[in-house]
Amino acid sequence: MGKRLFLLMFSAVMAACSSEEVGRASAQPPANTGKTLVAYYSYTGNCRSIVGTLTSQLAADVLEIQPAQKGQRYEANGYALGTQLLNAIKAAPDQASSYPAIDPVSTSLDDYQNIIIVTPLWWSQMAAIMQTFLFNYGPQMAGKHVGLIVSSASSSISQVVADSRRLVPDATWMGEALWINDRNRSNTATLVSEWLAKQNFQSATAESKEMNITINGQTQRVALAQNQAARALAAKLQDGPLTVTLNSSGGFEIWGPLGFSLPTSNEQIKAQPGDVVLYNGSNICLFYGSNSWSYTRLGRIEGLSEAELRSFLRVGESNISVTLSAAATPTAVGRIRGAKANDNCYTLSGQRTDRPSGGVYISNGKIRVKGGK
Ligand SMILES: Cc1cc2nc3c(=O)[nH]c(=O)nc-3n(C[C@H](O)[C@H](O)[C@H](O)COP(=O)(O)O)c2cc1C
Repeated sequence: MGKRLFLLMFSAVMAACSSEEVGRASAQPPANTGKTLVAYYSYTGNCRSIVGTLTSQLAADVLEIQPAQKGQRYEANGYALGTQLLNAIKAAPDQASSYPAIDPVSTSLDDYQNIIIVTPLWWSQMAAIMQTFLFNYGPQMAGKHVGLIVSSASSSISQVVADSRRLVPDATWMGEALWINDRNRSNTATLVSEWLAKQNFQSATAESKEMNITINGQTQRVALAQNQAARALAAKLQDGPLTVTLNSSGGFEIWGPLGFSLPTSNEQIKAQPGDVVLYNGSNICLFYGSNSWSYTRLGRIEGLSEAELRSFLRVGESNISVTLSAAATPTAVGRIRGAKANDNCYTLSGQRTDRPSGGVYISNGKIRVKGGK
């Protein structure tokens, strides 16, 4: 549904909502260790895609909630059916008969310590199909760490958060819910990475420890810093390599814009040859000399002398094309274990690929081999 349409149709609703009161839980969320289940519903594919990004960063099993009645068009006739389903729930939220039927769920929630709910927003409320799942299974989530990710076109998610608290009253809620909308959707990988870090998922997340930098056909390994910026960059690279254009400056670095922002934790540091840092939140600097400034560390190019660094970084040239990519590490494979959101395929380096033409790839957590043309 278009953003413009929603701005018109929901301006009254949005005006009534104050700022984002999206489930402020305890200031220090509990550590999320143990097994994680991602339960989602998706009508038009946005939540499915969010789950794909989420499970590229977090080892989790995935459960898709499906309506029992297939082929329904919730948006047809001015959203008549979607509205009717929500009105029925609103009229009698405590009665099972108010909720649209869903397919049976065979997953046992007992197996999971953490549950992340990913749901669309419908008319500022939680999509009716997801409400059914939480009405039926919310009681089994008592005491578990439960998190919420909501996708809308533009409407505020505060009522969806309220729905989740009504349906799962006894959960230990993770921190603030994550809101993905049409304005920030292109930044999903970074938003998810930041959100996972805030939920204290570090210990359960298989972190990327390395990435590659390729310049003029030569590839060097970069040991990544263990901070939010490096995690967000690694998450972004799971969606594919990134090529940036860098230029020499100051006699100690080549640098340039990434094209997006990363979370900063700037500190005054003396960057050394080989250091890779973030400058001003959205620029990457590769050092062959040294300089003191307020930077956020991203990592360090390994195994090159100063002279080799100067040659690798094409010092003296302008508009140097630099490609950053995910490193092929066993953790990248481990990260997608258990993901069943869709039939996404991954290379062995953990990068998503649509149609492998041949070779070894990973699909739905299984290693497969396909012959080439
Ligand atoms: C029945 C229905 C009602 C919706 N109501 C709203 C709304 O009130 N505000 C809004 O911003 N988006 C609304 N949307 C759009 C969805 O929230 C948004 O496109 C979401 O990303 C869909 O997720 P999905 O693709 O996983 O189904 C509605 C969509 C449907 C189908």
